[in-house]
Amino acid sequence: MPKYNPYGIQGLCHFSIPVKDTQKALTFYSEILGADVYEDEIGRYEFGFSEQDKALGRQEHIFVEIAGQRVELLGLDPNGEAPLGTHHAFAVGPNDVHVVEGHLEEHGIPYEGPVTHKGTAAVSIYFCDPDGNALEFCCWDGYQRMDEIPLMNTRGPRPDKSFDWDPERRRAQPRAAGKA
Ligand SMILES: [Fe+2]
Repeated sequence: MPKYNPYGIQGLCHFSIPVKDTQKALTFYSEILGADVYEDEIGRYEFGFSEQDKALGRQEHIFVEIAGQRVELLGLDPNGEAPLGTHHAFAVGPNDVHVVEGHLEEHGIPYEGPVTHKGTAAVSIYFCDPDGNALEFCCWDGYQRMDEIPLMNTRGPRPDKSFDWDPERRRAQPRAAGKA
């Protein structure tokens, strides 16, 4: 049984592995680690390959399942860039999306979301730790009011989510200008 978490975190939803060529990487992960492309009633979780996805500027990515763990093989976008860098996503349930959002907000932590992604039922909130490691809260499915959740914007630079962490007050402060 998973241990109780006061913020509704249920465990690891997925982690990402950056790759240059997602299809080539898939052959490695399936042959060597027994990965299968993740699939549910919505379809196969392979994105960024269709003409429509390319037109949207979506980054190539394939969700695979290895021994029950979801892993995101994260490739490049049509410009050859990887805007959604390596990140780790923690799972939250449908009723906790706004709870964790409020929790970030209370602590002054900049975040992006909640957003959803074409061809999935996932709702994501992106943020960083004080060292700039990219994190995500992800409700993989079951969210009831999807029509209220916008699609993630795959165009243009992603918002800056850096901050300085005040360990005493346990709050984020806006990063001082000029400080990297
Ligand atoms: Fe993710």
